[in-house]
Amino acid sequence: MTELSAEAQRSAESRGESGRQWMAALPGIVAELCARWSLRPGAPISGGKWAYVAHVTTADGSGAVLKVSPPDAEFHTPARLMAAADGRGYVRLLAQDASRCALLMEPLGAPLAATGLPVDGMLDVLAATLRQAWRAPCVPGHTVAAANDKAVGLIGLLDDLWPATGKPCSPQLIAKARGFAERRAAPAAGTEQVACHGDPHPGNLLAVGAPRPGAETGYVFVDPDGLLCDPGYDLGVAMSGWQELVLRADQPVALVRGWSRRLAAATGVDEETVWEWAFVERVTSGLFLMSHGHQDEGRELLASAELLR
Ligand SMILES: Nc1ncnc2c1ncn2[C@@H]1O[C@H](COP(=O)(O)OP(=O)(O)O)[C@@H](O)[C@H]1O
Ligand SMILES: [Mg+2]
Repeated sequence: MTELSAEAQRSAESRGESGRQWMAALPGIVAELCARWSLRPGAPISGGKWAYVAHVTTADGSGAVLKVSPPDAEFHTPARLMAAADGRGYVRLLAQDASRCALLMEPLGAPLAATGLPVDGMLDVLAATLRQAWRAPCVPGHTVAAANDKAVGLIGLLDDLWPATGKPCSPQLIAKARGFAERRAAPAAGTEQVACHGDPHPGNLLAVGAPRPGAETGYVFVDPDGLLCDPGYDLGVAMSGWQELVLRADQPVALVRGWSRRLAAATGVDEETVWEWAFVERVTSGLFLMSHGHQDEGRELLASAELLR
């Protein structure tokens, strides 16, 4: 029953002993949570890369979804953000257990990524739902973060992971990403900061089962990092995938510029800012995925970024 998706297994194995220990402990953790919250376990859900996610049934017979994250994942900030959002733009939280890194959530439907919508249509839904998600109040963990934390962190990733992954892309690509990240680390005075999701790709935006307040687009986000940042960061992340399309495009720059223009027009965020965040994210995600057991996907992302520099 406690079956981890193949992708999440790969991520756990890439963490070595601590990942293996967590996988071994997982059935016991799930059993304890089911006892604590009076849940009947159901089928696991695939689609994530890091956590155990499964359908469960609560004591009153209604459906819910249980997520158990590995202990080295950040738990408090995402959980606080989801609680603070109170269902607006985000999944509703039903319960949380910090010591087991577990969340009990309202059950949602398929991810936006699985709808088969064209990219432009997906970007429209991502932008509209982000506009709502950004209205979440900033939570305690946020107020201490420096405005440029994210960009500084991404510069650190570029410096550490490029050599650690065996320099899998050109030095020119790293230099370009570093230059953009340095610009994002020193945003223009007055740049707005909001409670960003941090990882709003179309696999983390799920359909609600029935219309409800706070889900006006028909979708809500799961799986936030939760950070205080320029909203352009979330838009950059939202458009940093679709590497297969970028790799196949006759004019990759024109294609991807179209995406940043679309997101900027939908949100009022500066287009160049979105483009730069997206470029940095494409490179750092590629390196990050390679260093966490997802070599092929990481390499494709990096190859797509090479076409955009
Ligand atoms: N509340 C939910 N209802 C239905 N499916 C969910 C829910 N939360 C997560 N999922 C499914 O599980 C997948 C992984 O969950 P996610 O929170 O994104 O974990 P990960 O950190 O592994 O990406 C999601 O992409 C989605 O398909
Ligand atoms: Mg996810």
